[in-house]
Amino acid sequence: MAKTLLIMGSVRAGRRCPQIAAWVLGIARAASDADYELVDLADWPLGMDSEPGIPAFGKGYARELTCAWSEKIKPASAIIFVTPQYNWGYPAVLKNAIDHLFHEWKGKPALIITYGGHGGGKCAAQLRQVVEQVGMTPLATMPALTLPRAAVEGAPHDPAKDFTEEEVDMIKQAIIELPSARNC
Ligand SMILES: Cc1cc2nc3c(=O)[nH]c(=O)nc-3n(C[C@H](O)[C@H](O)[C@H](O)COP(=O)(O)O)c2cc1C
Repeated sequence: MAKTLLIMGSVRAGRRCPQIAAWVLGIARAASDADYELVDLADWPLGMDSEPGIPAFGKGYARELTCAWSEKIKPASAIIFVTPQYNWGYPAVLKNAIDHLFHEWKGKPALIITYGGHGGGKCAAQLRQVVEQVGMTPLATMPALTLPRAAVEGAPHDPAKDFTEEEVDMIKQAIIELPSARNC
């Protein structure tokens, strides 16, 4: 079965992303029998804009790690982005990971889940525009999770306790809708 990749948007020191992504993964696995895999961009040190060619031209890649990144993304059946909001945008590492490829993203349903002190609606809107440009089909439902102020300031955070039932229900609903978001 082709995998649904859950790509984490943060590589920041002290990040909350692994904890939140693992919690989302638990919800996804309970809501559907799709095959999920977590992708940590910290394991993919692609380098900033490290490819000399333009991925959209489809002439191949110069670097081995980009080829491996291409092979990771190409067979996936869908992508779930779990990303924080930084200054109303999403982290540069995520944009860089998207920009390293082009055709590999095409036709895949995408679920955008964001989080931040003020939710993540602003960064979700930016990410949506980019995933549409590379040919993915983003779901209209984009859960934006609000982190408690104390968690943003570094206090221990438990997603299962700190996020609301409404936020959980929205994630479940989006997980169920995700496979039907295909555009080809
Ligand atoms: C550089 C930076 C900018 C941030 N800007 C925002 C913001 O614009 N809106 C928001 O809701 N939260 C903002 N935050 C709070 C983050 O969403 C919060 O710290 C979150 O835990 C970051 O995700 P991470 O810990 O996985 O890196 C910002 C955090 C950082 C580090």
